[in-house]
Amino acid sequence: VRVLSKMPYELSSISQEARLDKNENPYDPPPGMTEELRMALSSIKLNRYPDQEATALRRALSDHSGFPADWITVGNGGDELISYLMTAFIPPGGCLMTLSPSFSGYEHQSRALGVRTSEVPLEYRGGSIFLDTEKLIDRLAASSPDLVIIDRPNNPTGLSLPLDLLKEIASLTRGILAVDEAYVEFGGGSFLDVPGELPGNVFVLRTFSKAWGLAGLRVGWGVCRPAVREKIERIRAPFNVGVFPQEAARIALGYSEWMRARVGRISYTRDRFVEEVNRLPGWKAFPSSANFVLLHSLNPKELILKTFRHRGVHARFPAMGPLSEMSGAWVRVGIGLEEEMGRVLEALKDLSAGA
Ligand SMILES: Cc1ncc(COP(=O)(O)O)c(C=O)c1O
Repeated sequence: VRVLSKMPYELSSISQEARLDKNENPYDPPPGMTEELRMALSSIKLNRYPDQEATALRRALSDHSGFPADWITVGNGGDELISYLMTAFIPPGGCLMTLSPSFSGYEHQSRALGVRTSEVPLEYRGGSIFLDTEKLIDRLAASSPDLVIIDRPNNPTGLSLPLDLLKEIASLTRGILAVDEAYVEFGGGSFLDVPGELPGNVFVLRTFSKAWGLAGLRVGWGVCRPAVREKIERIRAPFNVGVFPQEAARIALGYSEWMRARVGRISYTRDRFVEEVNRLPGWKAFPSSANFVLLHSLNPKELILKTFRHRGVHARFPAMGPLSEMSGAWVRVGIGLEEEMGRVLEALKDLSAGA
């Protein structure tokens, strides 16, 4: 690798690239699942529209989560459900509240829908990123949002806010609280851990894209009380999840042991990566409850980008809201295979040495 790194053009053409910019799962599905998917493809009727109620998938999600099927909504990825939440619960002139930084999809959708957003900043002090809860509660009272979306764990910081705080937010808001648990399998504990105990104004969002390793399938799901679900059903496109994704997600749920084992491995790789980065001068890695890690460096972004490119590493330089005022660069690195993380560390060492 050391020799190849001196030949960037060749490296990018020979070696596989380490694609760590979209927080994907690096592992393929287990052979048993792939075989079941193949069999499903041959029995599915592609000339017919999908079951508009996604009955079998919602029933399987009900068994999986312990919540009744009429509390469950499925979508074309979590993305679609985020868009539905904004459409269903934010009237014209209404307000969305998010953390800043948070998942870029919120801004993308709110802009597309012309929704006004009130952002609550995450802060950096004493080497950690944290939320000033008093500030959030004040902002909640001042802007009275129709919808609050909190990614928990937060993308890109990996911070998982305490469940008790989320419950407090739910009780203080007059609107809907959407808890985006896209990464929750990797840490932090879920709002769904206690079946039946979901406040009336809470929507919990989950996805098959991260821990389940099925980002290409585009299936997300959400849990909320039927009165909330009814409002989403009113605007949901009737055939929003295709025949194959419905069946494939249902099949995947039979492999939850496999999923948990992979999550364990990814979390282990993540924690070791954080330790290693924090040994390097000039780099800081923040503890993460997700399958990515946020890094900070005093190197300029352009130099980091160039060095990563030479090593075939793709990472993300996320929008950081008010934290972008700090000097240096913020980089979000997805957790891939051990070998890929080794490659990232080599790139960080190159940059440390030059620092
Ligand atoms: C916090 C968060 N929520 C939701 C999503 C959307 O996931 P998907 O549409 O693949 O289900 C992502 C994707 O990166 C995310 O980071």
